[in-house]
Amino acid sequence: KKKLPLTGKKALVTAGPTYEAIDPVRFIGNHSSGKMGYAIAEELSALGANVTLISGPSALKLSDKNINRIDVTSAEEMLKASLSNFPGTDISILCAAVADYRPKEVSALKIKKDSSEFGLELVKTSDILATLGQEKKAGQILVGFALETDNEVANAIKKLEKKNLDFIVLNSLNDEGGAFKNDNNKITIIDRNHNKESFELKPKNEVAADICKKVLDLLG
Ligand code: C5P
Repeated sequence: KKKLPLTGKKALVTAGPTYEAIDPVRFIGNHSSGKMGYAIAEELSALGANVTLISGPSALKLSDKNINRIDVTSAEEMLKASLSNFPGTDISILCAAVADYRPKEVSALKIKKDSSEFGLELVKTSDILATLGQEKKAGQILVGFALETDNEVANAIKKLEKKNLDFIVLNSLNDEGGAFKNDNNKITIIDRNHNKESFELKPKNEVAADICKKVLDLLG
C-alpha cells in the first residue's frame, strides 16, 4: 500500500458555529454551516492524517469513518476540546465561526416577555485560535481564517501575527458566492513572509485541497 503524504501526522480541525445560551431555549448563534471545516477534515484524512474534528452544531455528516468527531455547543466547550487535543498535533486548522460574545449570565428559567425592552449583557468568549497560538511548540503548524469587510489583507496579516499562525486563509464577503453557507469559496492564503496567493472561486472541497497543499509545502 502506498504511503500517503500525511501518514503518521495528527491533525485538528474546528468547524461550524458555536451557540451561546441565553436561557434554556434560546441562544446566540450564526449562519456558519461547517462546510469549509468538514471539507478540510476530509481532505486531511484522505491525505493520511489522523484527524480530530471539533464541530459546533451542524447538520453535516462525515462519510469518512476514520475522522474522530467531537461535538460541542459553546465556545467554552470548543476551547476545552481544542486544548485537550492540541498537544502532539502536527497540523491545526481552525475554521469555526466562534461567537465573539456570550451572555454574561445564563437564565435558569425561560425569560418572559414582560417588558417592552430587554437588555442582554455580553462578555467576550476566549479566542481559541490565539490560545493555541500561545501554546504552539516548534514544528506545530497552526492555520486560521479571516473574514473581513474592509482593509482585508492588512487585517488578515495583523491576525496572522497576533495569533502566531503559520498562514491565514482570507475569504472576503465582497466575493459573490463565497464564504458563509455557500458550497463555493474564494480565498487568498497569506503566510508569515506576507506572501499572498489568490485562488479562483471553487467548490469547498477543492479549496480544502489548496489549503492542504500549502500545509504540505510547509512540512517540506
Ligand atoms: O479574530 P477573528 O474572529 O476574525 O479570527 C478568525 C479566526 O480565529 C478563525 O480561524 C476562527 O476559527 C478563530 N477564532 C477562534 N476563537 C474565537 C474567535 C475566532 O478560534 N473566539
